[in-house]
Order: sequence, then C-alpha cells, then structure tokens
Amino acid sequence: MLRDKNGWRLQYHLMPPDGWLNDPNGLCQFQGVYHIFFQYSPNTPGPDGRFARTWGHYAGRDLLHLKYTGVPFWPVDPIDRDGCYSGSALTDDEHIRLYYTGNVKESGNHDYTYSGRQANEILVESDGENFSEKTCLLTNSDYPKNCTCHVRDPKVWKKENGFYMILGARVKGPDLSADSDFGEVLFYQSEDGIHWNFLKSLTSEERFGYMWECPDYFTLSGKTFLSLCPQGLPKGEYRYQNIYQAGYFTVEGSLDGVQYLHDFREWDYGFDFYAPQSFVDEQGRRLFIGWVGMPDAPYTNPTAEPKGKGWENCLTVPRELSLENGTIRQNPIAELKNLRYDETPVMPHGSMVLPDGAGDFEISLLEGTEDLAWDIYFGDGAVLSYREDLLRLNFTDSVGFGRRERRVIIPDIEYIRILVDSSLLEIFINDGEYVITSRFYPKYTGDRQNLTVSFNCELAAITGWKMHTMETNRDLI
Ligand code: FRU
Repeated sequence: MLRDKNGWRLQYHLMPPDGWLNDPNGLCQFQGVYHIFFQYSPNTPGPDGRFARTWGHYAGRDLLHLKYTGVPFWPVDPIDRDGCYSGSALTDDEHIRLYYTGNVKESGNHDYTYSGRQANEILVESDGENFSEKTCLLTNSDYPKNCTCHVRDPKVWKKENGFYMILGARVKGPDLSADSDFGEVLFYQSEDGIHWNFLKSLTSEERFGYMWECPDYFTLSGKTFLSLCPQGLPKGEYRYQNIYQAGYFTVEGSLDGVQYLHDFREWDYGFDFYAPQSFVDEQGRRLFIGWVGMPDAPYTNPTAEPKGKGWENCLTVPRELSLENGTIRQNPIAELKNLRYDETPVMPHGSMVLPDGAGDFEISLLEGTEDLAWDIYFGDGAVLSYREDLLRLNFTDSVGFGRRERRVIIPDIEYIRILVDSSLLEIFINDGEYVITSRFYPKYTGDRQNLTVSFNCELAAITGWKMHTMETNRDLI
C-alpha cells in the first residue's frame, strides 16, 4: 500500500492506492451508495500481465467514508485490449450502467490518429459490487465519416423521451492536414440505452482546438452547459496557461434544433485540473469532481518515484455546482466541514501550523479593501499574492517541480476559501467564481509533518481549521 516518507500523501483527497490515477469516471449515487471510479494504472499488472489503463473504484455511503474496492474490469478483451478509457454512469431502480470507451490499437504502420485505432463504446452493468460482461454498443463505423480515430469518453443521461449520449471527437479539417483538425462533440440517441442512433454533431462557430475530450452536458437552474477539455488552444498570459484546458460553454437552443455555444469559461486556473465530470446525487445536488493532474505537462510529480512503486495524481474534493449571474460557481461539498477541528482565528499578519499539512481557511476581506494587496505563504516556496487585480500563484523550483506561475485577473476579491492538503492546494475565490487547483511538494520534517501557512493581509477576517485524515485515506496509508 501507499507509503511516502516525504509526507506528500494526501489526508482528505482521493488518490490511487498505488500507481497512476487520471480522470474521474462513472460518478453516481445508487441506492444510497456513492460510486467514484477513476482512470487507473495500478503498479501491479492486470490478469493478462500488462499495465494498460483501466478503472479503479471507490464506494461508500457518504463522500467522506469511501472504500477502495479494486479494479472492476480489465482491458483484456478484443474490444478494449489497449485500455478501458473514460466514461460515465447512469442509474435506474435496478442497476448502474457504466459506459466507457474501449481503446484498441491495431498492429501495423499507423499514426493512431488517422488510422489504426478503434474507439468502441462499451456497456457494463452493475449492482455496485458485481460487474457484467461487456457489450459493445458503437464502433468506428458508427461515427461520422469526417471523424479521426479519436472519439471517446461517453457521458450518458436520460430524459422523458429516451437516452442521450455525448462523445468527444477530433474531426478532420477541410484540407485534411493535422493543422486544420478541430474538436467537436457527437450526440447519439436511444430508446433503451443499448441501441444508439447518431443525432448530430456540435462545435463552436470559430475553431476551438483540434480535439475535445471528456464532454459533459447538463442543465443547472434551467440553463444548459457543455463542459469539455479542448486541446490545441493558443496559450495566453492570463488564460489557457496549461497545455490542455478544461472549461464550459453556455449552450443556446435545444438538442433537437439548432444550438450555439458561447462564452467559454475555464473551470480552473491552476496547474493541475483536467477531465472533470458531474452527476446529480440523491439530494439533488449537481456534484463535480476533477482530476488533479494534467496530461503531457512539462512539470512532474516526485511521488511517481521510484518507478513501479510510487503513486501519482488524485481527485479534487467533490464540489457542488450552482449558478450565479449566468456563470457556474464551484464550492466544496458542505460535509467536508465535518473533517475540520481546532478552529483558530488568525491575525492578518499571523500564521497557523497545520499537522500533516492539512487545513481549511476562510478569509473575508473587509468592505472597501477588496483591491488591497495581500500575500499568503504555504511553507517555504509557495505563495498566493494579489496586486492590482492580478492574482498569482508562484512556486519555487524545489517545491513546484516545474510549476512556476499561474495568473488570473480578478477585479475584486471579497472572500477566499483555501483547502490545503499536504501536497495540494484548492483555492476558491469569491464563492467559487474562480478556482485554482495545484499540486506542490513542500519539504516536510518531523513526525507531524507541519506546514506553516502565513498571512500578510490588511483588514481581513481569517479563520483556519486543521483537517482530520479521511477514513478512506487512513486505510490506504
Ligand atoms: C483524458 C483522457 C480521456 C481518455 C483517458 C485515457 O485525460 O485522455 O480522453 O479517455 O484520458 O486515460
């Protein structure tokens, strides 16, 4: 099981028992039990002796007491032999249906973008503990002719008139060169969730990257949104700072008519946030979980070492989505506060020591001071600072491992919530209007692995809490 003498293991974020984790998958609540699956490559090879990507599974009656239950299925069949890729869950009274993409790389001389890759949409049914045989629902021949081999990540939902599926796709551009490829989503419709017909494809009016991964389509307070991960956007100084992006469009029009996508907003401005997925739980909340990681990033995670023994990446805490003035707010689920202890008022120039590097802070800037300068230090080498509408997160090389600076323009900051978890920061600004998620690797010494968080603010009301280790994580350590 996970061991990490550097103190970077997480106290209250879901992480892999060992090995590599990426996208959250199959999020749902079924008969009271929450299920959180994730893209997973454990350090131990699967039944066929290979390390290909599969799913891992956490389940539990509430979101603070989940148990790792293992790998529900392996990429050992001809329809998914090179990876059980990302997908989603749909529940009814009797079972959970899991939809995912089976990745198959054909042998031969292929580039695997335009030839040689099969993307099979696959269904597995479950009662939460047992998993059925796999059924292949869609293959390459079911996708529009202009699609490349990159079609994946089914998100499925049900409406009164049947089932819908959305897929992310890379489409060949008009001059058939990689430079003119563009991203879009494909919609399919079904009466039974098993037999699917192509409904339509949807893209933005202006080209927006060459590939759209991990789409999600949902309504929040009556407004419709398309969440996706576009690849290939040009880097900006204050936006699109990562190699790939995660964000959402507002959708105008309905599925059976013409639709327009507008006002793309990034979900997160940190170094490590990708492939999020939402679901509605039995309380009716739209919950949202992202992968704290970034594919193909130039920065690294020292926990990956030694190779074959380490672990890498984690998930965000579940966030609840809400709508305010047409934009989506993300806030940590209310029950996370149950992990708090030792409530401490912190002076504007004071500090607080967090055992195991685990804490939660609420900072209110008093009225009239929303544009004053301030800094918050997390141990040595990590600082969040605000000067003249510019919020910056900076790491030195020794704690950032290649992560240096992220910037966001925010005209007024009134309220900040910061989750600190040993090697992770989740920063929520103005009630989740802007979020910054990043890994960092401070030097911990001593048994309690203390992290000192220090403030340099004017006229702020600051409260800090230490955070208990989630039972889930205690089991893993
Ligand atoms: C996003 C992604 C998905 C794919 C999965 C494979 O991070 O590339 O598009 O299904 O990861 O692990």
